[in-house]
Amino acid sequence: MRKPKKIIIGNWKMNPDTLEEAKKIWSAVKRSAKKVKNTNIIACPPFPYLNSLKSKEKNLFLGAQNVFFAKKGAFTGEVSAKMIRDSGASFVILGHSERRAMGETDEIISRKTETALAENLRPVVCVGEKERKESGEHFNFLGNQIKNSLAKISKTSLGSILMAYEPIYAIGKSFKDAMKPAEIRETAIFIKKILSDIYGPEEASLVPILYGGSVGSENASDIIKEGGVDGLLVGRESLDIEQFPKLVAEVDNI
Ligand code: PGA
Repeated sequence: MRKPKKIIIGNWKMNPDTLEEAKKIWSAVKRSAKKVKNTNIIACPPFPYLNSLKSKEKNLFLGAQNVFFAKKGAFTGEVSAKMIRDSGASFVILGHSERRAMGETDEIISRKTETALAENLRPVVCVGEKERKESGEHFNFLGNQIKNSLAKISKTSLGSILMAYEPIYAIGKSFKDAMKPAEIRETAIFIKKILSDIYGPEEASLVPILYGGSVGSENASDIIKEGGVDGLLVGRESLDIEQFPKLVAEVDNI
């Protein structure tokens, strides 16, 4: 059986400042995608840049960083799934901890996930605990977060979803502070178990599990090799036109 491709998602967050800079980063990502065979790359720039970034590479996709749960109408400042789809994106990050910190609840994320799926956008649903407890209590938190964030998602749609595990304490630090591969492996198994309890083992096996939080070219391949995950969600380093292609090449060579 052919090995499934690894997945690397670049979360650009609220960067860069101008379209010109965005195009430079995008060109580097395109060059990097052209060179790899076993990796799918999904770049997620801010909304205003989506329409201007095009690619013919079969392993390169665009994603948004949020969507609104209503289809259309009087929702000042919001962006619909149809608009995102029309801009050329086919993925959307949902429930990132930075959005949860702004007040997004599991219920909102579950509604957004449902809306995204209805428009053929593949949701990247983010989950992650604030801290690890010796007692293992964080597993209860994580389990509930997964169940509630997917509350509106049926068995038949599960295969279109990607889960990103991002422990909050490991985001935005040095690669030395990223979670250790052994702990990532343990948590990835736990996430699969929760999905399997809700949807059954077959459906659960269709969901790629990604890790995010201080991933760089220094630790990316170890996390994939030893962490038992299908891919990575990369923040800061996805904007670095030298380091990001390095990271992609290393993961591709595993
Ligand atoms: P980081 O961000 O790679 O800069 O730690 C990851 C994320 O928040 O998705």
